[in-house]
Parts: sequence; structure tokens; C-alpha cells
Amino acid sequence: MIISHLRVNHIEKPLGYLLDKPTFSWITSDSAGTCQEAAQLQIAIDEAFCNIIFDSGRQEAISSLGYTPDITLKPRTRYYWRVLVWSEKDHGISEVSWFETGKGNEPWSGEWITSPFDKEIHPQFFKAFSLKKRVKSARAYITGLGTYEFEINGKKVGNEYLAPFYNDYHKWLQYQTYDITSFLREGKNAIGAILGNGWYKGRFGFINQMKELYGSQFGLLCDIDIMLEDESHIVIGTDESWLCHPSPILESSIYDGEVYDAGKEVDDWSTIDCDLNGYAAAIKFSPVCGTLTERLSPPVVITERCAPVKLLHTPADEQVIDFGQVITGWVEFKCHLPAGEKIRLQFGELLQNDNFYNENLRTAKEEYIYISNGKPAVIRPHFTFYGFRYIKIIGLSHIDLKNFEACVIHSGLEFTGKLETSNDKVNRLIENAHWSQRDNFLDVPTDCPQRDERMGWTGDAQVFSATASFNMYTPAFYKKYLYDMLLEQKTHDGSVPHVVPDILERCMVLSGNEDAVQHGSCAWADAATVIPWTTYLFYGDKTLLREQFENMTLWVDYIKMQDDTLTGSSRLWKTGFHFADWLALDNLDKSSSFGGTDCYYVASAYYFYSASLAAKAASVLGETEKAKEYQQLSEEIKKAIQKEYFTPNGRIAVDTQTAMVVALYMNLVPKEHKERLVQDLKKKLDDNKVHLTTGFVGTYLLCQVLSENGLQSYAYQLLLNEDFPSWLYEVNMGATTIWERWNSVLENGLVSDTGMNSMNHYAYGSIVEWMYRYMCGINPVESAPGFKEITLKPQIDERFDFARAEYLSAAGLYKSGWEKTDSGVAYHITIPFDAKARFIVRDTISSVKVNGILHKELCGKCELTLKTGEYEIIVQK
Ligand code: BGC
Repeated sequence: MIISHLRVNHIEKPLGYLLDKPTFSWITSDSAGTCQEAAQLQIAIDEAFCNIIFDSGRQEAISSLGYTPDITLKPRTRYYWRVLVWSEKDHGISEVSWFETGKGNEPWSGEWITSPFDKEIHPQFFKAFSLKKRVKSARAYITGLGTYEFEINGKKVGNEYLAPFYNDYHKWLQYQTYDITSFLREGKNAIGAILGNGWYKGRFGFINQMKELYGSQFGLLCDIDIMLEDESHIVIGTDESWLCHPSPILESSIYDGEVYDAGKEVDDWSTIDCDLNGYAAAIKFSPVCGTLTERLSPPVVITERCAPVKLLHTPADEQVIDFGQVITGWVEFKCHLPAGEKIRLQFGELLQNDNFYNENLRTAKEEYIYISNGKPAVIRPHFTFYGFRYIKIIGLSHIDLKNFEACVIHSGLEFTGKLETSNDKVNRLIENAHWSQRDNFLDVPTDCPQRDERMGWTGDAQVFSATASFNMYTPAFYKKYLYDMLLEQKTHDGSVPHVVPDILERCMVLSGNEDAVQHGSCAWADAATVIPWTTYLFYGDKTLLREQFENMTLWVDYIKMQDDTLTGSSRLWKTGFHFADWLALDNLDKSSSFGGTDCYYVASAYYFYSASLAAKAASVLGETEKAKEYQQLSEEIKKAIQKEYFTPNGRIAVDTQTAMVVALYMNLVPKEHKERLVQDLKKKLDDNKVHLTTGFVGTYLLCQVLSENGLQSYAYQLLLNEDFPSWLYEVNMGATTIWERWNSVLENGLVSDTGMNSMNHYAYGSIVEWMYRYMCGINPVESAPGFKEITLKPQIDERFDFARAEYLSAAGLYKSGWEKTDSGVAYHITIPFDAKARFIVRDTISSVKVNGILHKELCGKCELTLKTGEYEIIVQK
């Protein structure tokens, strides 16, 4: 038996995270048995478990998906934990893992410091100190206004970038904890820290000038907490004894990039040899910022380094490096130029007429400027990131590709899903969706990583959350996002801003337009119900659902309040602004970004959907009264929708693909008319030569609805279409990520529009959810969330020779693949420990091998219950 993936609050070995209610989870595999009979969790304050502070004892009720013991944790303490698992046949014990608390409610020794320089000057801070003994252990508790990096004795601490990340800095601020034991030594030590604008100040959001978004001054707060070998405890906090100096970073901006003048470098700036000439004393200040807490954000790290694919000399006489893939991150390069010489890099997603192109970035400059000090250097930006495939290089006469490397940067979440089919173009599409997720999972789920947006648009996040959770292990990432969201909801009567954190409203306030409403759109704000429910379905952690239940109820109550006060409790949602089926192709006004589906129909449908998700969550949490209340609300909404939007004979009044798909997906159509609606949808597709017209709302549901309603060949047709509009049209046009619009690039290779046109928007990548659920058949079931049980119902299609998926679920590794054989279809399936699947096929099964052994008694059926094991199931034609 192997017990792995030991996680606390869905993070392995969390150091200094916010752990109010630590929830423990793990995955068991390689057991002789098939299910967990009992488990036992032990927590100790030493690695040898001599001092156990919590022991659950052997219990049958402990779930591997999330066990939340009733414990109180001390600050700044490392705890060790392990888990014992019993199956019906064997038992095992995990390796020892750990988690460590942050400062909790302890006061800080350090105080906020800033520099005495002009507030636009990027400062670097310095502090030297001496230690009389060897260090037993040491931590840095640190945060900045805005983003910071720091070094001790000349070495960067941690492998993270862009901390303390992207929050509403007025609402809360995260500090990070680093283990710096190995950085310190007996004798003299030095710390250097640099700061950039990040998301805190400068230019971000829909505002064109530099602004004091959350504040005007750079700030640093730090406690260096040291335990010496003789057990003496020293804390070196930020105060006026820290020194500061202008840093070589002259400008930094999320959108515009960075300007770095190496001529302004201070040699050895983070070592005891630092030349302190020109340094001034730091000054204390009191920034206006929200509650300071331990972090929730998973680390933002470099996850891959890509070599250039080729160097292009374009017709416009430019030197352009092609990295072959649209990524988010930056470029690291080596160069050795005479002092004062300048290199300028510009970043772009695609070429136009074979030339470098960046007009679709709108006002975002996406540049990096480096001024040499005459010394050889390895260079990278610090406080920005770029969405790009190409870089144009100005100022370097000879380019050696060996000196350049693109660094892929995003929240470091485990990749959990893999899909492969016999169609190479479909495989490229799968990869494109994966890349767009990587490129847009940078602390918050963003719409795009390149132009002057890069914000946590809720609608994009909502429609993609299930795909995202197949591709990666998302609960800690969404936990942080939903926490941001909850704080916003509390200041908007429960409503959810279009973007979270709500930089749009901040920008409105800053431009004197305080009344502009930037929240409460259907399908966007419903991220508050859909993401918590998806997270519960995928990971089965009730403690998390309990936390996020507030997001759900606040939002539903808000819609109801609108309905009650503005439309007389009509149980339809007929007011307000809605993006609805954004970017759909069925608006008669082709210049509009809004889809053709009546926005109040979509709003009412989501009113129903969110109320019903809140009802489900309430019943899972044992909130019987609330469950009844939301259930009743959802029934009233459904009735009102049926009255308003369906004729007595079952014709839907809103005659679009999206309207039909939404009604079928959300089960809004009167039962007796369901089949009619399916036929109407089929006809609608036939009339459009089986091509989609759907936007953000319709697209993620379309193929799922077709597959659920006997029209899987239509779903496959949509997947396989290669002409506009289709997923493979993008692939044929050379896309390496998912485009924002179906026609982001026209058939002639030209960008369709520069106003709002990104090559890296993941929303339409949501087709990948259909691939896992329907093509390969892996469907979570609500009664056994966390993939403890699935419905396994792969839908095969003649046009593919094979399709296979692997999914490392919260319960363990599933595999589901099928391939055509001469006489039928062979399914290869793996079910993890303590999980089971209801396997369903259309034709009867002719042979079943379980772990290599033939089981005749299982033949002749169309449905099997599969327990832990490996299966080969043959279905003859
Ligand atoms: C963003 C989106 C977002 C939309 C809302 C766009 O500018 O890029 O993806 O959801 O606005 O309308």
C-alpha cells in the first residue's frame, strides 16, 4: 500500500499558509484491497512522533478527501503528520509529512518601511546583522507593497515570483514565510530586498495613466526570525535601521514591462560587501492596507524553460525570436554589451504579414528595456510578466539563440489530467487549452495574460472551472480566488464583481466615476455558486464547501433581492446589465460583442441554476432549512421560466443554440417537451450545417448537452469541423493557445479586430471538459463527490481510432481509453483504490478481463460496476 499526496488544505507541506481549519487529505494506491475500511491520523510536534498532539485513533468515518480534526495550532510551529490506512486486506502507513504555521495573531517586530525618495523611484533595501552562534532554524516572514523579491547573502530566497500577488490590497494582504536556515551563517549576514509596482500601484485595470491604485508608496514589512543553536531567539524586523537606495529598476508595470539600468546597480547589494555609499535610512510609515494574514495563494513559479525555435529576419527588417508556443512569463537572456548600450525587447503573440505584431495588446506596451553597465550579465525582468510567443529585439547586432530562454510562469499546481486521441489536430486543441490554462492561472484565473486586462474575470473562470479541475489540482487556487470574491461580495450586498479582485471598481473610484456598476452580471457572478460546487464535486471536501457556502448564498440572495424589490418577486431576472452569451456569433449586429440570446433569459436561467446549486450545497452541509428554502426558490424560478419562455406546445421563445442548450443543461424545459427541444436543437444545428454560433455561455454546455441527449455524433461533428467557426479552424490557423473569439484570426491570416482580441483566452477551451466526461466517459457523481464514484460512459465515434484519458482525481488515478478493433471496441480502464465506477456501454459486452484474468460471468451485459483494478473490456460489433 502506498499513501501519497499528503496535503493540508490541498497543499503539500504548506509553510506559513492560513490554516484556520487544517484539512488533511491523501491518496492511497497499490493496496491488496479495494477499499478503505478505516484510517487514523496522527499529528506530532516532532518527526519521531514522540510528542503526539493529536491522534484520531482508528476510525471508519475518516475520509481521504478531507478530514478536519478539532485542533488548535500554535503560531510559528512545525507539525508533523502521518496517516494509517486499513483496507479489507492490508494496511499501510504514510511517510511523515509536515505543515508549519505562520505568525498567527503574534505581533510583528518589524514595522512598515518605505524610502525617503520620490514615490516613483523603485527602492532597494539593505540590512546587515551579526549572529554570535550557528543558526538552528530561521524564517523570513515578509510582504511588500507592491511585489517584492529578496536575497540573503547574495542568493535569492525562494523560487517564487511576483509575491505578495494579486489581492485587493485595501481588503487584505498576504505575507509569505520562507525557511532561510541555510541562508544564514554565524558572523555577518546581509539582506537585500527590491520592490516593484505589481498590482499595488502604477497602471492596472481600465485606466490609462499611472495611478495610486491602492497606495502611492512602496513598502516593505519583514520579520527575520532566528533560533540560534544555543536556543536564543532573535528577531530582526524592518525599521529605520534598514537602509535604502534607488534600485536599477527604473520602471515596472504589469502591462508595460520593465526598464532596468544596470549602470545603477550597487555591487553586492545583498551581501555584507555592499558599498553603502549613497544609501539613506528607511523611514517608517503607515500604509492604508487591509488585514495582514498568512498567505492563501499557491506559489507562482517558473514551471518550464523553453528554448527558442528560430530567429526570424522579417520583411520589415526586424529581428524576432520565435519560441514556438504562446506562453506567459518572461525571457531570460545573457548579454555583454558596452556600458550605456540599450536593448529593447518587445513581446507579441503572433506575426502579421510575417512581421512582428503587437497591436492587439491595446495600450499594454509589453516591453523590456535593459541598459548595460558593460559587464556580462544574465538578465530577466522581476515585476512584470508577458503573454507572448515572439520577441522582437532592438539594439543587439548579433543574436545568438543559445543566449535566450523563455520562462513559463504560473501558479504551481499539479497537472492531473492527460488526454490523447487518434486525431493530431484534436490533440493540439487539447494542448492549446492546457496552455491557455497555464498562461492564465497566475495567482488569479485571468481572462488573458497579454493586453491591458489580465484580470480575474469571473465569467471566464466560471465556464472553465471543470476543465481546469480535470487539467490541474485546483482547490487551493480557487480557495484563494473565492476568498477574494467573498470579501468583494461583502461590500456589494452579496453581488459579485465582473472581475475579482475588483480592480474595475477601484479604477472607477479613481477616475471619479463612483456610481458605475461593475458587478452582478449573470454567468459571470454565478462563479460564486458554480466554482464552489465544481470544487466540491471534484474534490469532495466539505470543509471547503462550508467556507464557500457563504459565497453561494450571498449571491443567490442578492439576485432574489433584485427580483423582490424591482420586479415584484416575478422569479425571473429582468433587470440589470448582463454579458450573457458574450461573443456569440448569432447577434444580427455583427459589430456587437453581445450574443443573440436574450440576456434576461440567460439571467433567469442562471438565477435558477445558482439557487439549485445553493440548495444542493445546503443539503450536503446539513442545512435543512436553507436547502428547503433554495429548493423552493429554484422551483418557483423554473415555473416562471417555463411560463415565460415556453409555449404550451414546448417551443422555446428564445430561438438560439445557446438558449436551447441552457434549457436542456439546466433542466428548464417541461419534461413532456424535452424531446421536442432536442429535435429543435438538432434542426437548428442542421440548418447551420452543424456549426456552432455559441458564445461564452453556450459553448461550454453545447457538446455536453448533445451527448446527454443522444446527439453525440453532432458533438463529434462540432469537434471535428475545420472550417470557421470551429475549434479546429483555430488549430489549422496555427493557434498554440485558445483564442478569445472564434474569428480572432481571419482566413487570410489577419487579426480580425484589435479592440478586444486575444490569442490566449481559455473560455472556449472548455470543450476539454466534454472530452473527459463524454469522449472518455469520466463523470463525477454528486452522491459520491471527489471521484469516489464515477459514471463511466465513454461515447465512441467512428471517426476516431482511439481516445484515452488519465485523471489523477482526488480519489486516485483513473484511466479510461477505448480503441477500435477489427471486430468492435476495446476499453482499457483503471479504477483507483477505494473508488468505483458504473460502466455503461450501448452494446453488450463480450469479454471482460480484470487484472488480466477473464471473467465470463460479467459478459453479456451493458452495464457493470467496476471496483479498484485494471480492466480490459471488449465489445463486439
Ligand atoms: C475580457 C473577457 C471578459 C469580458 C466581459 C473582456 O474584455 O477579456 O474575457 O469576460 O470582457 O465582457
